[in-house]
Amino acid sequence: MTATPQRGITLRFLAEPTDVNFGGKVHGGAVMKWIDQVGYTCAAGWTGTYCVTVYLGGLHFLGPIHVGELVELRALVIRTGRTSLDIAVDVYAGDPRRPERRRTGHCVVVFVALDADGRPAAVPRWRPETELDRALEGYAVRLSALRKQMDAEMDARLGTLQRDAGVVPA
Ligand SMILES: CC(C)(COP(=O)(O)OP(=O)(O)OC[C@H]1O[C@@H](n2cnc3c(N)ncnc32)[C@H](O)[C@@H]1OP(=O)(O)O)[C@@H](O)C(=O)NCCC(=O)NCCS
Repeated sequence: MTATPQRGITLRFLAEPTDVNFGGKVHGGAVMKWIDQVGYTCAAGWTGTYCVTVYLGGLHFLGPIHVGELVELRALVIRTGRTSLDIAVDVYAGDPRRPERRRTGHCVVVFVALDADGRPAAVPRWRPETELDRALEGYAVRLSALRKQMDAEMDARLGTLQRDAGVVPA
């Protein structure tokens, strides 16, 4: 009998003095690293393979995180494609001495499963079961459509924009 893979995972980190930015709060880059780590753990757990990050979208930092706080990152599979999967990550923070947590950020990270030769590999299908599942999957699908549209617009205009900005010679 094959066990159903785990859809969600939570990782916790303690915000250390080395994670601080010039404003005295936890650096956005530190939070993004934790997001990637929890996303990877979730993706690898679902697929049973090594996965790589290909896209991070809809990232919102909703509020600051302070040094000494417990940072909790909750990751959940919200869409599967053929070889890719979308993981929703929600970030919470709070005083480790107290049970309350406040939501400080969220985003969606897309991972691609790779086989032993480093080629994209098929991922186990996830099917939404609840109204919330369907809403989350719909959000991932809309984010993907928006990304493709914006990529196409940028690809078409990038050369012109770079020339106008003097980044590349005319
Ligand atoms: C992962 C990688 C091998 C896939 O190669 P590829 O040529 O894009 O492969 P494909 O075109 O077959 O795409 C594979 C899947 O990735 C998805 N994908 C690729 N780029 C994507 C992007 N920017 N955003 C969202 N999905 C993307 C495709 O939609 C496809 O999904 P599906 O199979 O579910 O339909 C290649 O993109 C890569 O190496 N990227 C760099 C990864 C990396 O270094 N990450 C940072 C460190 S982990």
